[in-house]
Amino acid sequence: MPKSSQEPQSSDGRSNGWDRVWVGAQLATMAASGEAYGAMHDAAIAVKDGRIAWLGSSAEAERRAAAQAVPVIDAAGVWITPGLIDCHTHLVYGGNRVAEFEQRLGGASYEDIARAGGGIESTVRASRAATRESLFAVAVTRVRRLMAEGVTTLEIKSGYGLDLESERRLLEVARALAGDLAVSVQTTYLGLHALPEEFRGDRNGYLDAVCGTWLEDIAARGLADAVDAFCETIAFTPAETERFLAAAGRLHLPIHVHAGQLNDIGAAELAARHGALSADHLEFVSPAGVRALAAAGCVAVLLPGAYFTLRQTHPPPVAQLREAGVPMAVATDCNPGTSPCTSLLLALNMACNLFGLTPQEALAGATREAARALGLLADRGTLEVGKRADFALWRIDRPAELAYALGANPCAGVVYRGQARGA
Ligand code: NIG
Ligand code: FE
Repeated sequence: MPKSSQEPQSSDGRSNGWDRVWVGAQLATMAASGEAYGAMHDAAIAVKDGRIAWLGSSAEAERRAAAQAVPVIDAAGVWITPGLIDCHTHLVYGGNRVAEFEQRLGGASYEDIARAGGGIESTVRASRAATRESLFAVAVTRVRRLMAEGVTTLEIKSGYGLDLESERRLLEVARALAGDLAVSVQTTYLGLHALPEEFRGDRNGYLDAVCGTWLEDIAARGLADAVDAFCETIAFTPAETERFLAAAGRLHLPIHVHAGQLNDIGAAELAARHGALSADHLEFVSPAGVRALAAAGCVAVLLPGAYFTLRQTHPPPVAQLREAGVPMAVATDCNPGTSPCTSLLLALNMACNLFGLTPQEALAGATREAARALGLLADRGTLEVGKRADFALWRIDRPAELAYALGANPCAGVVYRGQARGA
């Protein structure tokens, strides 16, 4: 509740102090400060024009706020973290794959289903058949679930259209979501996800289109903030992936790679060689691949929801990644096939319980390292002066609770660019 609603006005009518300040909070800044979680106790966070303007003690904030008649919000001891960032989703799609879920429980493997024309191809058929409005409507529900858990930025990949018009439509829907909702969206053109039916027997023809006019068209329309490719035995070879990454590089588009989800075919090394922002999945990566990621400063995006859903038994080499200094992000991978998951908090739990991350690494993975994976670390991902005022308020006693609980949502509010919204 604001204790004061009067703000000093300058001659142009704009406030010349802070816009508002939250006091009496525990901050998990996630910035390097020597404290676990970059914690600050009995602390305050002030915002101005959608940015973090000041961080410090509550007492000092109260003094300054009184002098400037700035609205003061009593955070009443809640924890405030950076807004969560889901840096890997495929959440705009039509249909669902619940029948394949049943098939897999009956013993079929993900690869068997994909080779038989199910899997990604079945979602491509459903997504092509869906209207823009219906794609938008189902995606809004998924985004709202993420937002209710403190997500303020998310990445959305295409990859379920696989022809130019359908891919454009998915990316336009992703952009429209950010237009309608307070969340910020980064879009990724996942040009190499599966070979579409109409190109069966003509892989080169598909590569020519994707690496040529399609990529140019999508880039020229400003529809993609980055590109991605599924480099895997059931998808695209390293040589095919390389062609696409090189074409993206010529257009100065940042790169993500689905690497080592089911087999190690050298995708991590390839991602590193092309200066990818991130290599994602990484259940199967060699020590040389880990070294290459470290040397390139490439973020390992861990996706425990997919590992869990596919009932995999070979987790990513977290100890090696940690030791090599590879930054680790955690994301939902929200998609109908391998991770029908709209809870980033659940992904944090699974990153700890299934992959062995600490709760602090998991939270960093959905804040600071997720921002790094999207190339946005200078702008968000930690609570630091000058960064975007995107943050989440939590009714918890310790930050580790965010990774501890299964199915709880202690989010008490979300602030997007300095504007509070209740949760
Ligand atoms: O990240 N691996 C490729 N892409 C998705 C799965 C897509 C699907 O099965 O529909 C993933 O797991
Ligand atoms: Fe994925």
